[in-house]
Amino acid sequence: MKVIYLDNNATTRVADEVVEAMRPYFTEQYGNPSSMHQFGGEVARRLDEARGHVAALIGADPGEIIFTGCGSESDNAAIRSAVDLLPDRRKLVTSRIEHPAILGPVRYWEDRGYDVTYLGVDHEGRLDLDEAAAVIDDETAIVSVMWANNETGTLLPVEAIGRLAKAKGALFHCDAVQAVGKVPVDLRGSTIDYLSMSAHKLHGPKGVGVLYVRRGTPFAPFLIGGHQEHNRRAGTENTASIIGIGKAAELAPGYVGAEQTRVRALRDRMESALLAHCRDAHRNGAAEPRLPNTSSISFDYIEGESILLALSDLGICASSGSACTSGSLEPSHVLRALGVPFTRVHGSLRLSLSVFTTEDEVDYVAEQLPPIVERLRALSPFGH
Ligand SMILES: Cc1ncc(COP(=O)(O)O)c(C=O)c1O
Repeated sequence: MKVIYLDNNATTRVADEVVEAMRPYFTEQYGNPSSMHQFGGEVARRLDEARGHVAALIGADPGEIIFTGCGSESDNAAIRSAVDLLPDRRKLVTSRIEHPAILGPVRYWEDRGYDVTYLGVDHEGRLDLDEAAAVIDDETAIVSVMWANNETGTLLPVEAIGRLAKAKGALFHCDAVQAVGKVPVDLRGSTIDYLSMSAHKLHGPKGVGVLYVRRGTPFAPFLIGGHQEHNRRAGTENTASIIGIGKAAELAPGYVGAEQTRVRALRDRMESALLAHCRDAHRNGAAEPRLPNTSSISFDYIEGESILLALSDLGICASSGSACTSGSLEPSHVLRALGVPFTRVHGSLRLSLSVFTTEDEVDYVAEQLPPIVERLRALSPFGH
């Protein structure tokens, strides 16, 4: 059965060019970049080229890029660094709609006596800047707010938040895992001190991420031991995957261009068809500013999971809430933060496109989904 993959916020297909670039680093160029011999030294040079490509993609200097094991590690490292470096500041500020990779670490410190503020959002997912201005103070160690939400795609006003953090001497971290490769990210002149990325969200391999640390911003390493990454992240480098993220970063400006035009047009066409042809369907989150590939829709009276299963039978891959928290049927904390009613949260579906998505695919989904919704409603104990 042909797979129609509309779950690109969970992970993306690795680009063929990326696979080709990585291949030699398993078989021919398998040296350890820390070795004294030329065989390893050559790999070290290639890693620095990859660092250059990643830096160029986000308007950074190569020295500001630390390769990590995933986006979650980058998020954890940023929070941990602030706590280690600013022990007299006992407040952390984040938002209610962050990914668990941020909410987990801040809750860890909350359990250990830190005062954590979770900034609220309005019913369209927009952050409350007045609340942020009121709570960020000179007791705050770090403010962490995401660039783009993984469930609704809403883009957050990170520079405005960053200015508030800077004015109080707090560090500012931004989880840009869903943004890089979909929207332009340029850190020149930005207020961001730390920024997280993950290769598998931009057609690179799983298990490699980046933590950007602005030049001059202190950083306390999360993984300690060896001297890799200029003493900022111990552990033998995942060489093939770092080459992979370097290649993905080289390709990404092309993806961003296509996302803004073709992918956005496909998403809008699919979303408006679904909202027009399914009764009692509602878009979650603001229409704009939003990632061009993401659509979150709630269908009243039915369960998102039953829609997923019916779609899966047709080879269509989507998600209800965040894939990272699936396995539990906990209602999405993001949609709850928007004030989406409980029953409607349970009927939510996230469709996320990529540069590989075709017009035929979105049209097929727009055609198949309305009868699925009607069929499930006919079976639903809630009626309608
Ligand atoms: C916004 C956001 N942050 C962090 C992560 C975690 O990244 P990784 O899977 O590389 O650990 C994800 C993954 O879904 C995400 O969407």
